[in-house]
Amino acid sequence: MHLVIAIDGPAASGKSSVARALAYSFGFAYINTGAMYRAATWQVLRRGVDPLDEAAVAAAMEASQIVTGLNGLKESTITLDGDDPTPFLRDEAINHHVSNVSTVPRVRELLVARQRAYAERDDIVMEGRDIGSAVFPQTPYKFYVDASPEVRAQRRAAQGEGDSIAQRDRIDSTRRASPLMIAEDAQVIDSSRLTIEGVVGEIIGRLKLKRFPLPPLARLTRE
Ligand code: DC
Repeated sequence: MHLVIAIDGPAASGKSSVARALAYSFGFAYINTGAMYRAATWQVLRRGVDPLDEAAVAAAMEASQIVTGLNGLKESTITLDGDDPTPFLRDEAINHHVSNVSTVPRVRELLVARQRAYAERDDIVMEGRDIGSAVFPQTPYKFYVDASPEVRAQRRAAQGEGDSIAQRDRIDSTRRASPLMIAEDAQVIDSSRLTIEGVVGEIIGRLKLKRFPLPPLARLTRE
């Protein structure tokens, strides 16, 4: 297995920007697992399946051809039955239903298998809700990026998105199958008063303390 840096946290905590920046500065692949659950939601909706019907959602995903990969920037990609859902992943309907689709254990099994496969080929920074707790519990490099509810709501509003993050947080944290939680050995970083660079710097500092084998490029730019 390759190196895995796990970054978990609630919606709009800043974890995506941080994970992407960290992956770029290390030359690692950046894997956005939220996008995978969003893609599954898009598939369910376009197939006319009720997102609250667990058995139908599981069946629809089992019948789908799910292909994951990396683009030229080493960012994760996903297609469903040959179609790329990327332009639709931040649509309001997806924001609204994604937490429900993510509660379905079979959906998680199908996607977690693909998430784990990334680490067989590349060093990765993977972000999500259950990466440190369930997908790669064995990695010693795990972070939980948080921010106050007010700051998170402001960030989403600034992005111009209709997204009820309080409701998503509630469903994501209380579901039975690998809920959002702080893994016992995760390092928590409150990003409320930090810039992206500030959080990335903090993570790199903590990785150094853990004797993480920093790639040469990261060493050059940070010291
Ligand atoms: O990170 P995001 O906001 O794009 O994630 C969208 C939803 O996907 C989130 O509300 C819950 C689900 N999700 C999940 O259940 N497990 C993950 N590892 C990542 C996302």
